[in-house]
Amino acid sequence: MSETPLDAAAYYRWSLSPEDRARLPRYDKLVDALADSEIACHLLVEARPGQRNPMLVLAALHYSALAGDEVLAPLYGAITETAPDAFARRVVERLEARPDLVRAQLHRATQTNEPGRSAIIRAVLRELRARGVLQVHLIDVGTSMGLNLYPDFYRVNVDDPSDVAALLMEDLHGTAQSGPLPVIHQRIGIDLNPLDPENPDHVLWLRACLWPEEPQRSERFLAVLAEMKSWPRATRLQGAANDLIDGAMARCAVPATPVIFHSWVAAYFSMDQQTQWRELVMRHVGERAVWVYCEHPGGVKGLEPPSSDFDSPRPGGTQIVVAETGEEPVSWGWAHPHGRWIAMTPGALR
Ligand SMILES: C[S@@+](CC[C@H](N)C(=O)[O-])C[C@H]1O[C@@H](n2cnc3c(N)ncnc32)[C@H](O)[C@@H]1O
Repeated sequence: MSETPLDAAAYYRWSLSPEDRARLPRYDKLVDALADSEIACHLLVEARPGQRNPMLVLAALHYSALAGDEVLAPLYGAITETAPDAFARRVVERLEARPDLVRAQLHRATQTNEPGRSAIIRAVLRELRARGVLQVHLIDVGTSMGLNLYPDFYRVNVDDPSDVAALLMEDLHGTAQSGPLPVIHQRIGIDLNPLDPENPDHVLWLRACLWPEEPQRSERFLAVLAEMKSWPRATRLQGAANDLIDGAMARCAVPATPVIFHSWVAAYFSMDQQTQWRELVMRHVGERAVWVYCEHPGGVKGLEPPSSDFDSPRPGGTQIVVAETGEEPVSWGWAHPHGRWIAMTPGALR
């Protein structure tokens, strides 16, 4: 994004979709109050290029609350007891009094690791299995803490919120979630900064990246971390996707099909990196890989996202794109950015 405070204000206001503004009344007021705060706008500009993202400032404030800041901790701890306007005003007052609280976290990155997105890779893997792909290696690019390396371990349900570790879907729009998946032989995560589920500060930061008005996401995150201890170990590779993908592919023994997956990652690449990424991955697709991504098409033009037969059923959907081995990328449908709903192209389903 551009670096002027005026654009920072606009970016705060755009940072939540209309759907999320309606669901999150306190964050709805907070992003507007941050946009009106000159100090908050300057803090956004102080973040390093590629991380000038309002979500970084929101996460830094939430992190300070979780870490016990005397004003923010009680405010966030009882968030539903404070009216939205008052919540936003008091958070911004604290930020303006103590900008150092936010500044201290600006070296970090928004690394939200959303298990809900496993519903997307799960649905795609299930369909690939139906098309004869029986065994895979899963390469999750931009893996963060690796929570999307286990689509075969998550339970999916549409009506039982008591199972906190499960992926709770609001709407599957007819997309099948049951049925066998391919066997996953190997799980490889690539990230500029892979996070360690055993590191308490990494766990705290990822909790801070979640939105405080969605306590069920935080509960699920912690429940998934507890379950993950008994899941198979994954390989984590630190570095840039474009530098590491060939090495990751070299780890994938035949005959299993390498599936290169990413969600909410390529938008962080520059246009040149996106173009190079497409070339690199398509070379592997030409040989033996499958490429699956779930990204907002407007942010990944360098990937040349394919046109879709149908629009996202709700505003702000992320596009599901699949390039099967030897084929060009095709749009398979849409999903909520956190996997709350999924709608795959009817023609893609069998
Ligand atoms: C918004 S998070 C998404 C995490 C995960 N894919 C998910 O959907 O839950 C973006 C992740 O991409 C990583 N990332 C950004 N640019 C990258 C690059 N060039 N190479 C590898 N990882 C990158 C970040 O470190 C971060 O962990």
